[in-house]
Amino acid sequence: MSPEPPRLGVLASGTGTILSAVLDAGLATAAVILDRPCAAADLATAAGVPVEIVERESYGPGFDRDAYTHRVIDSLKRHQIDVIAMAGFGTILAPEVFSVYPGRILNTHPALLPAFKGWHAVRDTLVAGVKVAGCTVHLATEVVDEGPILAQEAVPVLPGDTEDSLHERIKVVERRLYPATIRLFLQTLQGAAP
Ligand code: GRF
Repeated sequence: MSPEPPRLGVLASGTGTILSAVLDAGLATAAVILDRPCAAADLATAAGVPVEIVERESYGPGFDRDAYTHRVIDSLKRHQIDVIAMAGFGTILAPEVFSVYPGRILNTHPALLPAFKGWHAVRDTLVAGVKVAGCTVHLATEVVDEGPILAQEAVPVLPGDTEDSLHERIKVVERRLYPATIRLFLQTLQGAAP
């Protein structure tokens, strides 16, 4: 008898187009957890996936990252999540989540890591004047935008690109590469289960 497939949870915040690609790829998603009300909630609900909004109480200096992370972990546990895919999640989580889910948190970043880490990766790519951009799927660790790289793909930076046009060209690739990499990761994990 083959072991149960790992239960995938997606963390999102924004427009949810990467989440949508994950769902459209047919990846069984046990829950979508959001840090704010956003379009991703409607997408998940329409797909019949349980949604939980673990809303941030603050965005200012008083934000208690440890307490917030604890609430997210509680939610992940309630949904019996084994593997987390971050899909544009707008909150940096505290170290606790990486010890509860060691080597089990995936992220997609809109740049060719280790270049252009951080929130403004696409803008920084344009400002640097490089001619090649891309995306990176990696295992997330305590240090933002670090961790072992699982997949990467390049796209050209074209004359006249804006942050939006370049980001959209990158996201076209992310919407294919991220679900494919998540699938492979889940299969590998399931295959390695005792
Ligand atoms: C993606 O480019 C992802 O790499 C970054 O956030 C973006 C999310 O896009 N971390 P969307 O909100 O799902 O369209």
